[in-house]
Amino acid sequence: MQKFYITTPIYYVNSKPHIGHIYTTIAADTIARYHRMLGEQVFFLTGTDEHGAKIEKMAEKIGKKPQEFVNEISAKFQFIWDELNISNNRFIRTTEKAHIQAVQNSLQYLYDKGDIYLSKYKGLYCRECEQFKNEKDLVNGKCPEHNIEPEKVEEECYMFKMSAYQDRLLKLIKNDKLKIRPKKYKNEVLSFYKNGLKDVAFSRKNVKWGIVLPWDKSQTTYVWADAFLNYLTGLGWDGDVKKIPEMWPAYVHLIGKDILRVHTSIWPAMLLALNLPLPRQIFVHGFFLVNGKKMSKSVGNVIDPEDLISAYGTEATRYLLISATHFGDDSDVNLEKFNKKYNADLANGLGNLVSRIITMASKVQNSELDMQFKDIKELNSIVKIDKILQDYKKRFQDLEIDIALDLVQKVVKKCDSYISKVKLWELASKDNKKFCKILYNLLEILYIIGWMCLPFMPEIAWKIWKQLGIDIDNELKKSLNNIKIDNLELNFKIKKGDILFPRLKAL
Ligand code: MSP
Repeated sequence: MQKFYITTPIYYVNSKPHIGHIYTTIAADTIARYHRMLGEQVFFLTGTDEHGAKIEKMAEKIGKKPQEFVNEISAKFQFIWDELNISNNRFIRTTEKAHIQAVQNSLQYLYDKGDIYLSKYKGLYCRECEQFKNEKDLVNGKCPEHNIEPEKVEEECYMFKMSAYQDRLLKLIKNDKLKIRPKKYKNEVLSFYKNGLKDVAFSRKNVKWGIVLPWDKSQTTYVWADAFLNYLTGLGWDGDVKKIPEMWPAYVHLIGKDILRVHTSIWPAMLLALNLPLPRQIFVHGFFLVNGKKMSKSVGNVIDPEDLISAYGTEATRYLLISATHFGDDSDVNLEKFNKKYNADLANGLGNLVSRIITMASKVQNSELDMQFKDIKELNSIVKIDKILQDYKKRFQDLEIDIALDLVQKVVKKCDSYISKVKLWELASKDNKKFCKILYNLLEILYIIGWMCLPFMPEIAWKIWKQLGIDIDNELKKSLNNIKIDNLELNFKIKKGDILFPRLKAL
């Protein structure tokens, strides 16, 4: 069976989840669900990154013990993933005992092998990025990401010999053995490699909230070294380099562009040092902005995910975020845009189409529309659905998930205009046979729309199928690869359900 392992970054628990976090996670969930839909063996990992100076300081500021603080925030992430129907196979927390032990085992291995050595580090550290910065990365002396001055750090610490892996890594990136997508980000990484990779500080003396180094208890592990290993420990890896987890290597790590450099330098260098295979692909998505500005609490332009869920519901929130931008690009978002899109695509688009067709079909005697009405030629004149499905699969393969989603709208529009063109509602009394034939074809298309919605809005897919009288459990055992119009032998038993997307209350 084909294996598919996908990850999100693990999120810092210095504050509750924001729209950027939910975007990455919904995207990963959509891709994971798609691969399950192909019948593959899927493992989808997300979790929380709970150590480091940033979290230590935040806990101190609000007068809580770090463990108590991270427990609370991590629970908020888990709660919102439930609300958003996120189907992760595992939620990893870096404060779990097994993770801590595995980090210690693997760092001990690197220390014994000479890849980690004692030194002194002098440099600038941005606590918000949890990264050392070069002078030339700063703008007016400040970290451009967080607009704060990094602190000067000079302390004894253990360094990781990242420079030793530079040439091998560069080659692997160049020839796409470690694929970085979209391409513009591969180019960015290649130009960043031109300056050469330097060794990186892998421990901190003055940060107590971290994983203690097994050979020197006065130092804690650099939070990124700890965090990266989650991609392995989340699979149950215990730090023994001879035991590679069954699902490793990852098919794709999804990340935001802010953490591209570390993911294409420190992480693969650690893997080479551990003699483990590299992930196949790193896919970088853009940022959500509000009126061109990065969302931030100080600017006061943060969109709270809970507000989205209460305004639009889980399924529509998923839809609106995925359709907000081409996957990989930045996007400017605001509630007005979301409202418009909700009304156009969901309430008046998909929701209305389903309701119109189901209403007409429920008027047919016994609400039974069976195989005798099947007519592929007729169906193709509404929309060439097999071709659309092929395109849909290709888009998913290329991780163009927003374009795959847009194909649903394409089908909806084709059906709407066909219904208007043939004035279907009038045909019921004029030519019942033809009426039933067109309806049957439209129901088959709705059935396929259910499949196309499944990774994006699983509950909407189920609600559509339920109204068609489809056995959902049975449906979920099938693979999308076997869904072709010619092969379908469906008998519909219509059961009208609730409106899929209720109208929004005025802003
Ligand atoms: N803990 C590290 C990652 C360690 S992975 C081994 C971290 N965490 S974070 O909480 O800051 O979350 C980072 C991720 O959240 C980004 O990479 C991105 O996926 C997502 N986003 C954060 N802000 C975002 C936007 N404004 N827009 C879209 N996504 C962004 O970095």
